[in-house]
Amino acid sequence: MDCVKVLLDGGKGGVESGLKNVSSHCSISEMDDYDLSKLLERPRLNIERQRSFDERSLSELSVGLSRGLDHYESAYSPGRSVLDTPASSARNSFEPHPMVADAWEALRRSLVHFRGQPVGTIAAYDHASEEVLNYDQVFVRDFVPSALAFLMNGEPDIVKNFLLKTLQLQGWEKRIDRFKLGEGAMPASFKVLHDPVRKTDTIVADFGESAIGRVAPIDSGFWWIILLRAYTKSTGDLSLAETSECQKGMRLILALCLSEGFDTFPTLLCADGCSMIDRRMGIYGYPIEIQSLFFMALRAALAMLKHDAEGKEFIERIVKRLHALSYHMRSYFWLDFQQLNDIYRYKTEEYSHTAVNKFNVIPDSIPDWVFDFMPTRGGYFIGNVSPARMDFRWFALGNCVAILSSLATPEQASAIMDLFEERWEELVGEMPLKICYPAIESHEWRIVTGCDPKNTRWSYHNGGSWPVLLWLLTAACIKTGRPQIARRAIDLAESRLLKDSWPEYYDGKLGRYIGKQARKYQTWSIAGYLVAKMMLEDPSHLGMISLEEDKQMKPVLKRSSSWTC
Ligand code: GLC
Repeated sequence: MDCVKVLLDGGKGGVESGLKNVSSHCSISEMDDYDLSKLLERPRLNIERQRSFDERSLSELSVGLSRGLDHYESAYSPGRSVLDTPASSARNSFEPHPMVADAWEALRRSLVHFRGQPVGTIAAYDHASEEVLNYDQVFVRDFVPSALAFLMNGEPDIVKNFLLKTLQLQGWEKRIDRFKLGEGAMPASFKVLHDPVRKTDTIVADFGESAIGRVAPIDSGFWWIILLRAYTKSTGDLSLAETSECQKGMRLILALCLSEGFDTFPTLLCADGCSMIDRRMGIYGYPIEIQSLFFMALRAALAMLKHDAEGKEFIERIVKRLHALSYHMRSYFWLDFQQLNDIYRYKTEEYSHTAVNKFNVIPDSIPDWVFDFMPTRGGYFIGNVSPARMDFRWFALGNCVAILSSLATPEQASAIMDLFEERWEELVGEMPLKICYPAIESHEWRIVTGCDPKNTRWSYHNGGSWPVLLWLLTAACIKTGRPQIARRAIDLAESRLLKDSWPEYYDGKLGRYIGKQARKYQTWSIAGYLVAKMMLEDPSHLGMISLEEDKQMKPVLKRSSSWTC
């Protein structure tokens, strides 16, 4: 009884569209969090799914979805995506877009094996490119959309292998010159070396010691925890997360980011280039991407840590940090029309607890563009906040993950989506999605990037458009009940991606040109598209990668007009 398969490929055959083993997912995504006996009721579920598909539109479903998201998920809830909706409801359900089959084929071509087992996907399968650099490696962050695609397609083994392999790598001693890195650090990437003569496979990993700029990837550990939760949620297999190895792996990552120091803020202090933006781009300090991932990883770990002696200590620290972090982010990183107006009128040089302008931001440092960019309706988390410095740039990943992790309150989440609608041309243009907005140019580019020729204005990390971000946008759209925005973005991607051979990024103010040095057949562009498609077809997949609002973290009361809309 393979209901999802029938709904997804309309009887055309799973293999053709790359779909396999879907039935296992079908039963699991329908399961109630605690009621395993529902497994026995598959035939009934099939009928219900079919009927729901006929009767309800996606927008109706999505409204229901976002309403259904409000119970606190502190308990561990295996085996079910949070949202129970029919398997397939998008308008193209019965006719998969021709690109889907191509995408699956390309994704499978990027598989990397270690001793016969698939353990990941390479960053890009671009033979035409003269320079390979490290694009032939398995990147932790790049593998996330691949992993989600495989999980959604009922193929969890590769994800499990990847989680275990990277966990082993975490155990390595990591050095840069004579300096030893923190024990919990996860690699940015790894490579499998095949020796055809000896018939052996070995692995080399990069924790930042080979990376351009020698920067450690702070995001890898967070993605690892988030992926462990996605695996558990999707398969219902609690046993992996419960192993002492995984428990220890989580604790080591947490020990790195929860350690005490000289910090006055609950946010995590970072070097430039420590995440998806892995070159100098002026994101040092407290970048939104890392803060959102930090928040999400803390919440995911909270749900998976065992309440044993070692686990308990971390649980307590996580709870305290989450409390402080959500307050700080929601109060100081949030920007909308009202808030911008308040900052514009700030007094400076205030001292003591009564200060309104706590970080002594000088209004003259507000860039001109932000006054035009800020709509009356809408808002976002800005790029960075530190003493006398607010980076007003908008970053896609941090804002989407803020929605998915519920770091954003429901009001903030819908204001972020309002901004997408109001500033569609700037943020999406002709190819979803800008990595950040706006680009930095001229003198500022020289100072901030160190004259990086790859990061010239509207290219690559400096305002380039990255198709991989489509899956995050789609997930955020589903969570906030606005699937029509995702549909519009997917349509744009479908008009170009296959024809252009799945580029890594696009350049230009509208994202119209294939990126100057973009790889072709970039795996996360391919996987990101597949994940976006599958999520829109079956919004219940969202539960893998989304956390419900935590009612205990009280939203900060603010006076923004956009919040009341
Ligand atoms: C680039 C990107 C980085 C990605 C890597 C592999 O360096 O900036 O985010 O992980 O390529 O695709």
